[in-house]
Amino acid sequence: MRCMDPRVLSPLDRLLELADAGLRASFARPPGSRPTPGKPASPPVDPGLRRHAAGLMRVNHAGEIAAQGLYHGQALSARRPETRAALRKAAAEEGDHLAWCRDRLDELGSGPSLLNPLWYAGSVAIGALAGLAGDRMSLGFMAETERQVEGHLADHLERLPADDTRSRTIVQQMQADEIGHGRAAIAAGAATLPEPVPKLMRLAARFMTGTAYWI
Ligand SMILES: [Fe+2]
Ligand SMILES: [Fe+2]
Repeated sequence: MRCMDPRVLSPLDRLLELADAGLRASFARPPGSRPTPGKPASPPVDPGLRRHAAGLMRVNHAGEIAAQGLYHGQALSARRPETRAALRKAAAEEGDHLAWCRDRLDELGSGPSLLNPLWYAGSVAIGALAGLAGDRMSLGFMAETERQVEGHLADHLERLPADDTRSRTIVQQMQADEIGHGRAAIAAGAATLPEPVPKLMRLAARFMTGTAYWI
């Protein structure tokens, strides 16, 4: 006998499900499925460097909140069940990154961005729009998101304090994962995005990263 999901969700159910996922990601501490990479290490001794490392890890945490929002939004408007399943799986895998960044923020004596619910809600809206452009475009959006995140992480590896080995190990593992996510999107049939879209995505990301470093 075939086993089917007995739930038939109304639009209100879906909205509440999203609000719940967004609030959980923003304020609760969903555990990761893999342990946080690296050994727990003391934060940099210099207070300025410690604040700088915390700012960068807060940006990474906010980026992961945005990734959750994008993939949940894209899953909402995906046409094929396989695409929807792939997007939900990608969002779940990003949950590890969320947990790792949150752990490191704690160790650095800092906390996540206060604007996380805003990053999540905005990303759901952008993701749902991307999904409306069709599944191949949506997968192209995922591939481009992962490419841009990977670029951000490479930049952070240049900027993180040299002796903050714990943050660096976390970011390196995230970078390796994002490369895998991008490849998976391409293998699933990602289309190339038309030119203004990657540029607009970079602009939106710059606004978010510039803000989350401080708040
Ligand atoms: Fe990630
Ligand atoms: Fe990713």
